[in-house]
Amino acid sequence: MSDTVDQHLSDDAKAAIKDAMGRYPTARAAVLPALWIAQKEHGYVSNGLALEVADELGIPVNWVHEALSFYVLFHTEKVGKHVIWMCRNLSCWLCGYEEIKAQLESTLGIKEGETTADGEFTLLSNECLGACGGAPMIQIDDQYYENLTPDNIGQVLDQVRSSG
Ligand code: FES
Repeated sequence: MSDTVDQHLSDDAKAAIKDAMGRYPTARAAVLPALWIAQKEHGYVSNGLALEVADELGIPVNWVHEALSFYVLFHTEKVGKHVIWMCRNLSCWLCGYEEIKAQLESTLGIKEGETTADGEFTLLSNECLGACGGAPMIQIDDQYYENLTPDNIGQVLDQVRSSG
């Protein structure tokens, strides 16, 4: 886990965490929304930021690390501006996951687990993302892209790049 960059919660993020705490019966129950708030602000959650989240919630930091290490959608290292999750589970695999992965790696010039030199994209894979009917599919940030072919991957990446 990286601690090299000093990350601090903004006053707005702290207020949002307090607000989230009010919606749950215990502070510990608010750890997931609190981590989303922290990650949305900084892109990933360093050890230092995890400690700040724990302080805001008033819970031991190991409870925060338990959530961070269990849920793959939380990043503990710096990632690109856009994170691509390739679904590698059965339906997507049967419908062309390997071709989609090869096309993404070739188009982006990186391998799975890496980030492009310009910091735009990080390429990761995940288990079933719950959109098997649209296999093969990927998730980029909060958006699903379904029924992919090696030929339409470039168009998807252009669309994401132009969206900012
Ligand atoms: Fe890919 Fe379910 S197997 S979305």
